Amino acid sequence: MRPSILVIGKAGQLAMSLQALGGKQVAAIGRPEFDLNHPENISEFLKCHNPDFVINAAAWTAVDLAETEQEGAQCGNYTGPAFLAQECALRHIPFIHVSTDYVFNGKKGKPYTEDDPVCPETVYGRTKAEGEKAVLSLHPQSMVLRTSWVYSAYGRNFVKTMIAAGAKNPILKVVSDQKGNPTSSDDLAQVILEIINQIHEKHWQEDYHGIFNACGRGDATWFELACVTLKEASLYGQKEPQIQPILTEDWPTPAKRPLDSRLDTTKLRKTFGLTFPLWQESVSKIVQKLFSH
Ligand SMILES: NC(=O)c1ccc[n+]([C@@H]2O[C@H](COP(=O)([O-])OP(=O)(O)OC[C@H]3O[C@@H](n4cnc5c(N)ncnc54)[C@H](OP(=O)(O)O)[C@@H]3O)[C@@H](O)[C@H]2O)c1
Repeated sequence: MRPSILVIGKAGQLAMSLQALGGKQVAAIGRPEFDLNHPENISEFLKCHNPDFVINAAAWTAVDLAETEQEGAQCGNYTGPAFLAQECALRHIPFIHVSTDYVFNGKKGKPYTEDDPVCPETVYGRTKAEGEKAVLSLHPQSMVLRTSWVYSAYGRNFVKTMIAAGAKNPILKVVSDQKGNPTSSDDLAQVILEIINQIHEKHWQEDYHGIFNACGRGDATWFELACVTLKEASLYGQKEPQIQPILTEDWPTPAKRPLDSRLDTTKLRKTFGLTFPLWQESVSKIVQKLFSH
């Protein structure tokens, strides 16, 4: 029988993809019935669902707002997930927690591996780094998947923003000096479900405990991601705007983004034999999904 999974954060991009791909295998909870600011009632949900696995897809993801709303970010990214890990540990339920490339400052000059020390420069990055560390130290059957630049047909994300902006404006200016790995939440959900199947079949192995980079294959700048997105959108009749590259310093934001937060996914491939599709192929699928709605 397929393992049952409880997903935390039911309305987020990754949670939506997990529910769509996992079907009946997946139950999801989130606000208002479950809030990471008051995680104490997780025990009722664990009792009620009795899951084989828990995935935490909830987080404070408003990177700029975190700079001024530090307490919210702390609960969503650190203390809330730590509590979840502890409760899952008590019940011996393997726990998969999702983290971010923004735990790095982007100054390494080549893709980050799981062994690189974290060096966040934002409240979001710092609270996510604290969350990773707490989860791993509180639960021996926990795994942290670090992902990056997530987009999907759900919620708010860069790909959807570019399509909406491109429909209204003949010229778009997009940052071209930040590099990362665009990741479709559908691809990430697929990888997580495959990891869970493997753990279920082979039982928990010691080397599953730890951090795994899990992001789309190939890197891009936001400018390149915008170009590919809007080229794909033009296949569905949307007029292609002119896209102008700009520098980060010309697009100031409250939270400083890392300039190069590429992640090396060798460990994921070696441990689970899993690789992501090329990001351009996945963008094409998501744009198709958006235009077929
Ligand atoms: N988005 C990205 O580009 C990106 C990049 C790197 C890593 N990640 C990580 O990937 C994971 C999934 O991200 P995503 O893009 O799917 O996130 P998302 O679409 O922004 O969704 C986040 C979800 O978390 C929920 N949430 C926030 N605060 C909460 C709280 N206090 N209690 C309960 N739920 C709360 C939100 O609930 P509401 O619906 O009620 O607001 C929302 O459903 C996160 O761990 C994130 O840090 C994301």
